[in-house]
Amino acid sequence: MSTPTVHRGLAGVVADTTGISSVNPDTNSLTYRGYAVQDLAEHCRFEEVAHLLWHGELPTAEQLAAQDAEERGLRALPPDLVGLLLALPPTAHPMDSLRTAVSVLGANDPGEDDNSPAANHAKSLRLFAALPAAVALTQRRRRGLLPLEPRADLGYAENFLYMTFGEVPEPAIVRAFEISLVLYAEHSFNASTFTSRVVTSTLSDLYSAVTAAVGALKGPLHGGANEAVMATLAEIGSADRVEGWLSRALAEKRRIMGFGHRVYKHGDSRVPTMRAALGEVVEARGGEDLLAMYEALASAMLREKGLHPNLDYPAGPAYHLMGFDTPTFTPIFVAARITGWTAHIAEQLARNSLIRPTSLYTGPAERRVGRGAPPA
Ligand code: SDX
Repeated sequence: MSTPTVHRGLAGVVADTTGISSVNPDTNSLTYRGYAVQDLAEHCRFEEVAHLLWHGELPTAEQLAAQDAEERGLRALPPDLVGLLLALPPTAHPMDSLRTAVSVLGANDPGEDDNSPAANHAKSLRLFAALPAAVALTQRRRRGLLPLEPRADLGYAENFLYMTFGEVPEPAIVRAFEISLVLYAEHSFNASTFTSRVVTSTLSDLYSAVTAAVGALKGPLHGGANEAVMATLAEIGSADRVEGWLSRALAEKRRIMGFGHRVYKHGDSRVPTMRAALGEVVEARGGEDLLAMYEALASAMLREKGLHPNLDYPAGPAYHLMGFDTPTFTPIFVAARITGWTAHIAEQLARNSLIRPTSLYTGPAERRVGRGAPPA
């Protein structure tokens, strides 16, 4: 019998079909339900993109109004959950707080195990609405500030920023933040989305699938890279130190976070849009030195390693200049990607098959214990 081919990391393996998004490395493009993500980032609110991912179409004005009304009534966290999150150790990583929050929301939901499309859409909207409060709480706690109540008179992005900073920032910041949410929302079978599909394929509940996805996204090879990018830029310090830093880092075989991608090999299609948003943030808030370092490292990495930035590379500095602490960056990614994850959970359930690959055994040949008779 011929030895089967092992696809480590499932690289290049087509595990299933999806109608939610297309990541095309040949044309370097990303579309959500057929719309180019650049188009959506330019013309749509994040609430509209959420509707598109869940339902397959951009909402009519009536559909958007109905979704907004429902979502704005679901933004507050239950008081016992606020208390629990505030009781976590101050050193707890905000991603652990988010993982906990999703788990507690599930434990509090009497319909947790109802996997009907209507019940799971209600859970999806609930998580979409409530996660900003959990992210904002962890950010404010880091600065010794108490959480703020959500405001139903504000849009999703404005309320997210209000709950974090206590005010709605200037329009350029709101716009750049909303663009980052649209770009982060969905990306086909990335590690955290595929994790959510694996858990869903056993017919476990949506909260369990999302909790698992949060765990997967935390890793620095995946969503955690946006935090690692900021740590890298802080370590380098200034543009004139990039070359020396990079040659040492590459000599030590270090991974430079924010660069490279499993699918895109000629650049992440989302980067130009996020880089432009970063430019808007620098225009509004300053940060020219940080931007100079950003550009210097990007060109050095392309020259030395032939690696292009991925979305996490411009997103990190943008969130930093918006005023978020670095450990809050990946939680923001969670709040955006909950739309993609829950769309994939619904799609997995609509045509489910248990996800269970095989493996090629390379351990010891079959053998017996071979000892004498067991002691009487
Ligand atoms: C996200 O999948 C998605 O869609 C994810 C995402 C989404 O929206 O969901 O786009 C979000 O996770 C973006 C990626 C964020 N991660 C990082 O920025 C971490 C740094 N990047 C790498 O670790 C790497 O590029 C991966 C993990 C993202 C992809 O790696 P691959 O495709 O498995 O390729 P590889 O790790 O086998 O690397 C191939 C070669 C290796 O050299 P050799 O060991 O063969 O000599 O390229 C090198 C790697 O060492 N390499 C890097 C590098 N990335 C690859 N070397 C230095 N720094 C890097 N960043």
